[in-house]
Amino acid sequence: MQSRIADWRPLAPLQSLELDWLVQAGVELACLRLDLIDPLISGNKWFKLAPYLQAAQASGARGLISLGGAHSNHLHALAAAGRRFGFATIGLLRGEPQDTPTVRDLQAFGMQLHWLGYGGYRARHQADFWQPWLARYENFYPLGEGGLGLAGARGCSALIQMVDAQLSSVGWAGFDGWWLAAGTGTTLAGLVLGEQGRRMVYGAMAVPGDHGVARQVEALLDEAGQMQRRYRLLEAARLGFARVDDALHRFILETGQSTGLPLDPLYTGKALLALREACSRGELAPGTRLIFVHTGGLQGGRVLMAAKSRSGETYTKQPQIERGR
Ligand SMILES: Cc1ncc(COP(=O)(O)O)c(C=O)c1O
Repeated sequence: MQSRIADWRPLAPLQSLELDWLVQAGVELACLRLDLIDPLISGNKWFKLAPYLQAAQASGARGLISLGGAHSNHLHALAAAGRRFGFATIGLLRGEPQDTPTVRDLQAFGMQLHWLGYGGYRARHQADFWQPWLARYENFYPLGEGGLGLAGARGCSALIQMVDAQLSSVGWAGFDGWWLAAGTGTTLAGLVLGEQGRRMVYGAMAVPGDHGVARQVEALLDEAGQMQRRYRLLEAARLGFARVDDALHRFILETGQSTGLPLDPLYTGKALLALREACSRGELAPGTRLIFVHTGGLQGGRVLMAAKSRSGETYTKQPQIERGR
Protein backbone atom coordinates (compact mmCIF):
# COMPACT_ATOMS: atom_id res chain seq x y z
CA MET A 1 0.00 0.00 0.00
CA GLN A 2 1.28 3.42 -0.80
CA SER A 3 1.60 6.16 1.75
CA ARG A 4 -0.85 8.61 0.24
CA ILE A 5 -3.75 7.49 2.46
CA ALA A 6 -2.66 9.61 5.40
CA ASP A 7 -1.82 12.50 3.07
CA TRP A 8 -5.26 12.75 1.53
CA ARG A 9 -7.25 15.19 3.70
CA PRO A 10 -10.35 16.07 1.75
CA LEU A 11 -12.20 19.25 2.64
CA ALA A 12 -15.96 19.40 2.15
CA PRO A 13 -17.49 22.81 1.47
CA LEU A 14 -20.06 24.29 3.83
CA GLN A 15 -23.05 25.86 2.07
CA SER A 16 -26.10 27.75 3.30
CA LEU A 17 -29.34 26.02 2.45
CA GLU A 18 -32.43 28.14 1.97
CA LEU A 19 -35.81 26.49 1.81
CA ASP A 20 -39.29 27.93 2.44
CA TRP A 21 -40.08 25.56 5.26
CA LEU A 22 -36.85 26.46 7.07
CA VAL A 23 -37.65 30.17 6.77
CA GLN A 24 -41.15 29.54 8.14
CA ALA A 25 -39.74 27.69 11.15
CA GLY A 26 -37.01 30.30 11.69
CA VAL A 27 -34.39 27.53 11.47
CA GLU A 28 -31.09 28.18 9.72
CA LEU A 29 -29.26 25.37 7.97
CA ALA A 30 -25.80 24.98 6.52
CA CYS A 31 -24.94 21.84 4.62
CA LEU A 32 -21.60 20.08 4.90
CA ARG A 33 -21.22 18.70 1.36
CA LEU A 34 -19.35 15.47 1.98
CA ASP A 35 -20.80 14.31 -1.34
CA LEU A 36 -18.44 16.74 -3.05
CA ILE A 37 -15.12 15.62 -1.58
CA ASP A 38 -14.43 13.24 -4.43
CA PRO A 39 -16.29 11.79 -7.42
CA LEU A 40 -15.75 8.22 -6.18
CA ILE A 41 -14.74 8.11 -2.50
CA SER A 42 -17.43 10.39 -1.23
CA GLY A 43 -19.56 11.06 1.80
CA ASN A 44 -19.06 9.88 5.36
CA LYS A 45 -17.54 6.68 3.94
CA TRP A 46 -14.05 8.09 3.62
CA PHE A 47 -14.00 9.30 7.23
CA LYS A 48 -15.17 5.91 8.49
CA LEU A 49 -12.73 4.01 6.26
CA ALA A 50 -9.57 6.05 6.70
CA PRO A 51 -8.62 4.75 10.20
CA TYR A 52 -8.94 1.15 8.99
CA LEU A 53 -6.94 1.79 5.83
CA GLN A 54 -4.20 3.31 7.95
CA ALA A 55 -4.28 0.38 10.40
CA ALA A 56 -4.12 -2.07 7.49
CA GLN A 57 -1.21 -0.18 6.02
CA ALA A 58 0.61 -0.08 9.36
CA SER A 59 0.18 -3.85 9.75
CA GLY A 60 1.66 -4.47 6.29
CA ALA A 61 -1.58 -5.97 4.94
CA ARG A 62 -1.80 -6.73 1.21
CA GLY A 63 -5.33 -5.42 1.04
CA LEU A 64 -8.75 -5.32 2.69
CA ILE A 65 -11.68 -7.69 2.68
CA SER A 66 -15.18 -6.54 3.61
CA LEU A 67 -18.92 -7.19 3.24
CA GLY A 68 -21.99 -5.52 1.81
CA GLY A 69 -25.02 -5.65 -0.45
CA ALA A 70 -25.28 -5.23 -4.22
CA HIS A 71 -25.80 -1.46 -3.78
CA SER A 72 -23.36 -0.96 -0.94
CA ASN A 73 -21.92 2.56 -0.59
CA HIS A 74 -19.34 1.09 1.77
CA LEU A 75 -17.98 -1.48 -0.71
CA HIS A 76 -18.09 1.13 -3.46
CA ALA A 77 -15.90 3.52 -1.46
CA LEU A 78 -13.56 0.71 -0.36
CA ALA A 79 -13.10 -0.55 -3.92
CA ALA A 80 -12.52 2.99 -5.21
CA ALA A 81 -9.97 3.60 -2.43
CA GLY A 82 -8.20 0.35 -3.33
CA ARG A 83 -7.92 1.46 -6.93
CA ARG A 84 -6.81 4.99 -5.93
CA PHE A 85 -4.26 4.03 -3.30
CA GLY A 86 -3.03 0.80 -4.83
CA PHE A 87 -4.21 -2.02 -2.55
CA ALA A 88 -6.21 -5.14 -3.32
CA THR A 89 -9.86 -5.40 -2.25
CA ILE A 90 -12.13 -8.40 -1.79
CA GLY A 91 -15.90 -7.95 -1.47
CA LEU A 92 -18.18 -10.56 0.12
CA LEU A 93 -21.67 -9.90 -1.16
CA ARG A 94 -25.08 -10.68 0.22
CA GLY A 95 -27.39 -12.88 -1.82
CA GLU A 96 -27.12 -14.31 -5.31
CA PRO A 97 -25.15 -12.70 -8.14
CA GLN A 98 -26.82 -9.53 -9.40
CA ASP A 99 -25.93 -7.03 -12.04
CA THR A 100 -26.32 -3.55 -10.55
CA PRO A 101 -24.53 -0.29 -11.39
CA THR A 102 -22.66 -0.64 -8.09
CA VAL A 103 -21.56 -4.20 -8.82
CA ARG A 104 -20.29 -3.13 -12.25
CA ASP A 105 -18.31 -0.32 -10.59
CA LEU A 106 -16.84 -2.71 -8.00
CA GLN A 107 -15.61 -4.95 -10.79
CA ALA A 108 -14.25 -2.00 -12.76
CA PHE A 109 -12.31 -0.87 -9.67
CA GLY A 110 -10.72 -4.32 -9.51
CA MET A 111 -12.52 -5.63 -6.41
CA GLN A 112 -12.72 -9.41 -6.37
CA LEU A 113 -16.29 -10.46 -5.57
CA HIS A 114 -17.75 -13.50 -3.84
CA TRP A 115 -21.51 -13.96 -3.52
CA LEU A 116 -22.36 -15.59 -0.21
CA GLY A 117 -26.08 -16.26 -0.70
CA TYR A 118 -28.44 -15.09 2.05
CA GLY A 119 -27.69 -17.79 4.61
CA GLY A 120 -23.95 -17.46 4.05
CA TYR A 121 -24.18 -13.72 4.56
CA ARG A 122 -26.13 -14.12 7.79
CA ALA A 123 -23.19 -16.10 9.15
CA ARG A 124 -21.10 -12.92 9.19
CA HIS A 125 -21.73 -12.43 12.91
CA GLN A 126 -20.32 -15.85 13.85
CA ALA A 127 -16.97 -15.90 15.62
CA ASP A 128 -15.27 -18.09 13.00
CA PHE A 129 -16.73 -16.31 9.97
CA TRP A 130 -13.45 -14.73 8.80
CA GLN A 131 -11.26 -17.77 9.33
CA PRO A 132 -11.66 -19.45 5.90
CA TRP A 133 -11.50 -16.13 4.09
CA LEU A 134 -8.31 -15.09 5.84
CA ALA A 135 -6.83 -18.52 5.12
CA ARG A 136 -7.70 -18.03 1.46
CA TYR A 137 -6.59 -14.39 1.34
CA GLU A 138 -3.55 -14.39 3.52
CA ASN A 139 -2.49 -11.13 5.10
CA PHE A 140 -5.69 -9.31 4.23
CA TYR A 141 -7.26 -6.94 6.77
CA PRO A 142 -10.92 -7.82 7.56
CA LEU A 143 -13.33 -4.92 7.85
CA GLY A 144 -16.86 -5.31 9.23
CA GLU A 145 -20.00 -4.34 7.38
CA GLY A 146 -20.50 -0.61 6.91
CA GLY A 147 -17.30 0.33 8.73
CA LEU A 148 -19.15 -0.03 12.04
CA GLY A 149 -16.71 0.37 14.90
CA LEU A 150 -15.05 2.80 17.25
CA ALA A 151 -12.11 3.54 14.94
CA GLY A 152 -14.57 4.46 12.16
CA ALA A 153 -16.53 6.66 14.58
CA ARG A 154 -13.39 8.47 15.71
CA GLY A 155 -12.56 9.10 12.04
CA CYS A 156 -15.87 10.99 11.78
CA SER A 157 -15.05 13.28 14.72
CA ALA A 158 -12.81 15.11 12.22
CA LEU A 159 -15.94 16.62 10.68
CA ILE A 160 -16.31 18.91 13.68
CA GLN A 161 -13.09 20.75 13.05
CA MET A 162 -13.86 20.88 9.34
CA VAL A 163 -17.11 22.71 10.06
CA ASP A 164 -15.78 24.96 12.82
CA ALA A 165 -12.99 26.14 10.52
CA GLN A 166 -15.46 27.18 7.82
CA LEU A 167 -18.26 28.79 9.83
CA SER A 168 -17.41 32.29 8.69
CA SER A 169 -18.03 31.24 5.08
CA VAL A 170 -21.76 31.04 5.90
CA GLY A 171 -21.63 34.09 8.17
CA TRP A 172 -22.00 32.17 11.43
CA ALA A 173 -20.01 32.50 14.63
CA GLY A 174 -21.45 29.30 16.05
CA PHE A 175 -24.26 26.76 15.76
CA ASP A 176 -26.52 24.64 17.94
CA GLY A 177 -26.38 21.14 16.58
CA TRP A 178 -25.94 18.55 13.85
CA TRP A 179 -28.55 16.81 11.73
CA LEU A 180 -27.68 13.67 9.79
CA ALA A 181 -28.85 10.27 8.62
CA ALA A 182 -28.00 7.23 10.74
CA GLY A 183 -27.54 3.73 9.30
CA THR A 184 -25.18 1.94 11.67
CA GLY A 185 -24.93 5.06 13.88
CA THR A 186 -21.14 5.19 13.52
CA THR A 187 -20.99 8.70 12.04
CA LEU A 188 -23.39 10.01 14.67
CA ALA A 189 -21.38 8.38 17.45
CA GLY A 190 -18.23 10.06 16.10
CA LEU A 191 -19.88 13.47 16.33
CA VAL A 192 -21.21 12.77 19.84
CA LEU A 193 -17.70 11.72 20.89
CA GLY A 194 -16.05 14.75 19.34
CA GLU A 195 -18.62 17.19 20.71
CA GLN A 196 -18.20 15.95 24.30
CA GLY A 197 -21.65 17.31 25.15
CA ARG A 198 -21.13 20.77 23.65
CA ARG A 199 -23.63 20.63 20.79
CA MET A 200 -26.63 18.42 20.13
CA VAL A 201 -26.48 15.65 17.49
CA TYR A 202 -29.76 14.58 15.82
CA GLY A 203 -29.73 11.28 13.94
CA ALA A 204 -32.55 10.50 11.50
CA MET A 205 -32.70 6.70 11.43
CA ALA A 206 -32.83 5.54 7.81
CA VAL A 207 -33.46 1.97 8.95
CA PRO A 208 -36.35 0.68 11.10
CA GLY A 209 -35.84 0.81 14.86
CA ASP A 210 -35.36 -2.96 15.13
CA HIS A 211 -32.07 -2.71 13.19
CA GLY A 212 -30.40 -1.82 16.47
CA VAL A 213 -29.08 1.68 15.75
CA ALA A 214 -29.76 2.87 19.30
CA ARG A 215 -27.98 -0.17 20.75
CA GLN A 216 -25.02 0.25 18.42
CA VAL A 217 -24.59 3.94 19.25
CA GLU A 218 -24.71 3.25 22.99
CA ALA A 219 -22.21 0.39 22.60
CA LEU A 220 -19.76 2.65 20.73
CA LEU A 221 -20.09 5.38 23.36
CA ASP A 222 -19.65 2.81 26.16
CA GLU A 223 -16.55 1.42 24.47
CA ALA A 224 -15.12 4.93 24.25
CA GLY A 225 -16.00 5.60 27.92
CA GLN A 226 -17.97 8.65 26.82
CA MET A 227 -20.11 10.12 29.61
CA GLN A 228 -21.51 13.22 27.87
CA ARG A 229 -24.12 11.93 25.42
CA ARG A 230 -26.06 14.76 23.81
CA TYR A 231 -27.91 13.12 20.96
CA ARG A 232 -31.37 12.14 19.85
CA LEU A 233 -32.46 9.49 17.37
CA LEU A 234 -35.57 10.11 15.27
CA GLU A 235 -37.62 7.61 13.28
CA ALA A 236 -37.10 8.37 9.59
CA ALA A 237 -37.26 4.93 7.90
CA ARG A 238 -40.78 5.69 6.57
CA LEU A 239 -41.94 2.59 4.61
CA GLY A 240 -38.69 0.70 5.26
CA PHE A 241 -35.06 0.95 4.34
CA ALA A 242 -35.10 0.82 0.56
CA ARG A 243 -38.64 2.00 -0.10
CA VAL A 244 -39.56 5.27 -1.68
CA ASP A 245 -43.01 6.67 -0.94
CA ASP A 246 -44.56 9.46 -2.99
CA ALA A 247 -43.87 12.20 -0.45
CA LEU A 248 -40.19 11.29 -0.20
CA HIS A 249 -39.83 11.05 -3.98
CA ARG A 250 -41.50 14.44 -4.46
CA PHE A 251 -39.46 16.04 -1.69
CA ILE A 252 -36.17 14.87 -3.23
CA LEU A 253 -37.11 16.14 -6.69
CA GLU A 254 -38.42 19.49 -5.39
CA THR A 255 -35.42 20.08 -3.15
CA GLY A 256 -33.10 19.26 -6.04
CA GLN A 257 -34.92 21.70 -8.30
CA SER A 258 -35.02 24.58 -5.83
CA THR A 259 -31.52 24.25 -4.31
CA GLY A 260 -29.51 22.04 -6.67
CA LEU A 261 -28.82 19.70 -3.73
CA PRO A 262 -28.78 16.03 -4.85
CA LEU A 263 -30.41 13.80 -2.25
CA ASP A 264 -30.79 10.02 -2.23
CA PRO A 265 -33.91 8.18 -1.05
CA LEU A 266 -32.02 5.86 1.31
CA TYR A 267 -30.29 8.31 3.63
CA THR A 268 -29.95 12.02 2.91
CA GLY A 269 -33.46 12.47 1.45
CA LYS A 270 -35.02 10.82 4.48
CA ALA A 271 -32.88 12.83 6.87
CA LEU A 272 -33.76 16.22 5.40
CA LEU A 273 -37.44 15.29 5.15
CA ALA A 274 -37.34 14.28 8.82
CA LEU A 275 -36.04 17.77 9.58
CA ARG A 276 -38.91 19.35 7.67
CA GLU A 277 -41.33 17.22 9.67
CA ALA A 278 -39.66 18.18 12.96
CA CYS A 279 -39.90 21.85 11.92
CA SER A 280 -43.59 21.50 11.10
CA ARG A 281 -44.18 19.94 14.53
CA GLY A 282 -42.50 23.00 16.06
CA GLU A 283 -39.77 20.91 17.67
CA LEU A 284 -36.96 23.32 16.88
CA ALA A 285 -36.92 26.76 18.46
CA PRO A 286 -36.83 29.70 16.04
CA GLY A 287 -33.25 30.89 15.70
CA THR A 288 -31.80 27.36 15.86
CA ARG A 289 -28.75 26.92 13.64
CA LEU A 290 -27.98 23.42 12.44
CA ILE A 291 -25.39 21.70 10.28
CA PHE A 292 -26.95 19.18 7.90
CA VAL A 293 -24.33 16.58 7.00
CA HIS A 294 -24.71 15.47 3.40
CA THR A 295 -23.33 11.96 3.87
CA GLY A 296 -23.06 11.34 0.10
CA GLY A 297 -23.52 7.83 -1.18
CA LEU A 298 -25.86 7.86 -4.10
CA GLN A 299 -25.49 4.14 -4.91
CA GLY A 300 -28.87 2.56 -4.11
CA GLY A 301 -30.53 5.86 -4.97
CA ARG A 302 -29.58 5.72 -8.59
CA VAL A 303 -31.64 2.58 -9.09
CA LEU A 304 -34.51 3.46 -6.77
CA MET A 305 -35.21 7.00 -7.98
CA ALA A 306 -35.15 5.92 -11.62
CA ALA A 307 -37.53 3.03 -10.93
CA LYS A 308 -39.86 5.27 -8.96
CA SER A 309 -39.91 7.95 -11.68
CA ARG A 310 -40.72 5.32 -14.31
CA SER A 311 -43.38 3.43 -12.45
CA GLY A 312 -44.97 6.00 -10.19
CA GLU A 313 -45.62 3.13 -7.77
CA THR A 314 -46.05 3.88 -4.10
CA TYR A 315 -42.80 2.11 -3.47
CA THR A 316 -40.27 0.24 -5.48
CA LYS A 317 -40.68 -3.37 -6.48
CA GLN A 318 -37.01 -3.58 -7.30
CA PRO A 319 -35.13 -6.40 -5.57
CA GLN A 320 -34.75 -5.53 -1.93
CA ILE A 321 -31.80 -3.28 -1.43
CA GLU A 322 -29.58 -4.21 1.44
CA ARG A 323 -28.61 -1.36 3.70
CA GLY A 324 -26.30 0.70 1.54
CA ARG A 325 -23.60 0.35 4.13
C1 LIG B 1 -25.04 7.87 2.23
C2 LIG B 1 -25.04 7.39 3.62
N1 LIG B 1 -25.48 8.21 4.57
C3 LIG B 1 -25.52 7.82 5.85
C4 LIG B 1 -25.11 6.57 6.23
C5 LIG B 1 -25.20 6.19 7.65
O1 LIG B 1 -23.95 6.26 8.26
P1 LIG B 1 -23.69 5.40 9.56
O2 LIG B 1 -23.69 3.97 9.14
O3 LIG B 1 -22.35 5.85 10.02
O4 LIG B 1 -24.79 5.70 10.50
C6 LIG B 1 -24.63 5.67 5.27
C7 LIG B 1 -24.18 4.31 5.58
O5 LIG B 1 -24.55 3.61 6.42
C8 LIG B 1 -24.59 6.08 3.92
O6 LIG B 1 -24.18 5.27 2.95
